[in-house]
Amino acid sequence: MNEIIKVKNVYKSFKGKEILKGLDLSVKEGECICIMGRSGCGKSVLMKIMVGLFKPDFGDVFYRDEQLVFDDFSKLRKYRRRFGMVFQNAALFDYLNVYDNIAFGLKYNYKIDKKEIKKIVFSVLDELQLTDSAYVFPAELSGGMKKRVALARALVLEPEILIYDEPTTGLDAIMVRNIDRLIKETQIKRNTTSIVITHDVNSAYRIADTIAIHSEGVIKELGTMDEIRNSKLKETRLILEGEIDE
Ligand SMILES: Nc1ncnc2c1ncn2[C@@H]1O[C@H](COP(=O)(O)OP(=O)(O)O)[C@@H](O)[C@H]1O
Ligand SMILES: [Mg+2]
Repeated sequence: MNEIIKVKNVYKSFKGKEILKGLDLSVKEGECICIMGRSGCGKSVLMKIMVGLFKPDFGDVFYRDEQLVFDDFSKLRKYRRRFGMVFQNAALFDYLNVYDNIAFGLKYNYKIDKKEIKKIVFSVLDELQLTDSAYVFPAELSGGMKKRVALARALVLEPEILIYDEPTTGLDAIMVRNIDRLIKETQIKRNTTSIVITHDVNSAYRIADTIAIHSEGVIKELGTMDEIRNSKLKETRLILEGEIDE
């Protein structure tokens, strides 16, 4: 498989506190990679660097072989469009119904007429079994439904790479399985690369092609679940045994 995203020797500090300390990570096209680590270790910061929202203090990000230029805003915008992001809290607009939440990016990023937008939105609503909730407001949705709407909102823009930041946190076990299935189905059906930040070992086991253990500012270990499961590394053991603060 080809490399689609490469993070090379990236450093990032906030107020003198070093969060990423020479981190390397390579993501292969079409895979589902789960990034696991203790809370506060810098997973979301890494994600924001990968999508071009944060500029590293040092080090580089590559899309295929193209180096990301953080100071070239028009290139950066084009780059960011390759990504769809699904955030932990779903981050929906409370004052818009499901349909308008999903259509939002299409209306503002592209010149597409209303009819076409409707077609696209309803086909994704159908795919995610949300058709009946099209005109409902976020306050009336369950946690799992909100996450599906957040995924729908990302999918209508047809991203090449989907990034999920803690997509299952706060959901019950059944919902977690549903979201996991959805992540996997989306990866396979749409042939997207998926990057999933997760605390949940069971989720990672179900969905990951590759697992990356993020600790002390670097990726300490990378491998398949079977490889990671047999790891003797202390950080990896702690994460797999669920002894992480959350
Ligand atoms: N925009 C920011 N300004 C200052 N500090 C930040 C910012 N974003 C993240 N941090 C700090 O970086 C550290 C890692 O955060 P984060 O990547 O969110 O952790 P997590 O692994 O839980 O996702 C935390 O100490 C956090 O306070
Ligand atoms: Mg985070």
